[in-house]
Amino acid sequence: MRKTTSRGRTGRHLAPDATPSAKQAKAEAALPKQPDPLDDDLPLAREAQRAVRVLNPSGSVTMPRPPRRRVFAVANQKGGVGKTTSTVNLAVALALHGNRVMVVDLDPQGNASTGLGVEHGAGTPSVYEAVVEGMSLDEIATPVEGIPSLYCVPATIDLAGAEVELVNVVAREARLQKSIATFSGELDYILIDCPPSLGLLTVNALVAAEEVLIPIQCEYYALEGLGQLLRNIELIKAHLNARLRVSTILLTMYDKRTKLADQVEQEVRGHFSEIVLDAVVPRSVRVSEAPGYGQSIMTYDPGSRGATSYFEAAEEIARRGAKLSPRRGDKDQKGGN
Ligand SMILES: Nc1ncnc2c1ncn2[C@@H]1O[C@H](COP(=O)(O)OP(=O)(O)O)[C@@H](O)[C@H]1O
Ligand SMILES: [Mg+2]
Repeated sequence: MRKTTSRGRTGRHLAPDATPSAKQAKAEAALPKQPDPLDDDLPLAREAQRAVRVLNPSGSVTMPRPPRRRVFAVANQKGGVGKTTSTVNLAVALALHGNRVMVVDLDPQGNASTGLGVEHGAGTPSVYEAVVEGMSLDEIATPVEGIPSLYCVPATIDLAGAEVELVNVVAREARLQKSIATFSGELDYILIDCPPSLGLLTVNALVAAEEVLIPIQCEYYALEGLGQLLRNIELIKAHLNARLRVSTILLTMYDKRTKLADQVEQEVRGHFSEIVLDAVVPRSVRVSEAPGYGQSIMTYDPGSRGATSYFEAAEEIARRGAKLSPRRGDKDQKGGN
């Protein structure tokens, strides 16, 4: 891990079943009596604790860890449909409820890194060094401040050149898969935030992943272009990654005032049936404000509809994952991740 912090220690406050009683809360508030290296983290860690209490007051909702690591490519070649927002918020929701999660920012714009408050200025070891130069993720993954068990592999502007630089690299489609394999930490979820294109970076995500999560914006033209993404997924499945499947569709930016949003929802559910999550993310200004504070909506405004919808979506994802078999069937297995 690039930066070592003792952040993990704050995890004791955040176990899924840790709904603090008044007594516990008082004890926690009194915790750091002496100067503590954790001091800097405390405001964010407290926000995270508060988020768990607001989102899950009785502590009755658990997000069971999957029996095997799940790697998701969050993909849709359209920009602005909620890929990054969904990646960040689902990752935080899962990590706040006992899962070990890593976000891989694979978009040169670095929005997922920004949203998690992770340094990604020029010169920061990033996914570029991993994919293009073969650096181990152990040296790149950074703990996300205030959220125990959440790590981020940031993206810097260097990544913008990677599509071209990778063209002549050996096994160019499997670079990310290889670097993920170098990560020595144990993880339950890896969420790869893809750029808005179907180029080599997205191909790398689709080769590294087993599942694809497609966010769909509840607006006009929502389904346009999706056919091309699905065809690419089929091609990758046929030639590079037999395990790949579209496991999850999340409807985002639902505006209940418009009839259109409802029509898009019906259409998507009619077409993709059970892989569409029941939870739908509403269009909400609060959701779009959160990244400006280097925070997810989960900690920025845990009582908001945006936060509860991502919380519900994460819970559904976790519940489905709990039913997976511990190991991939031998038949499906082609390369590891
Ligand atoms: N549910 C939402 N309500 C309002 N704004 C949203 C919502 N989800 C995302 N946004 C905003 O829409 C823009 C695009 O979202 P983003 O997640 O970056 O999409 P993508 O990664 O697919 O390009 C961002 O400014 C983001 O803050
Ligand atoms: Mg994005």
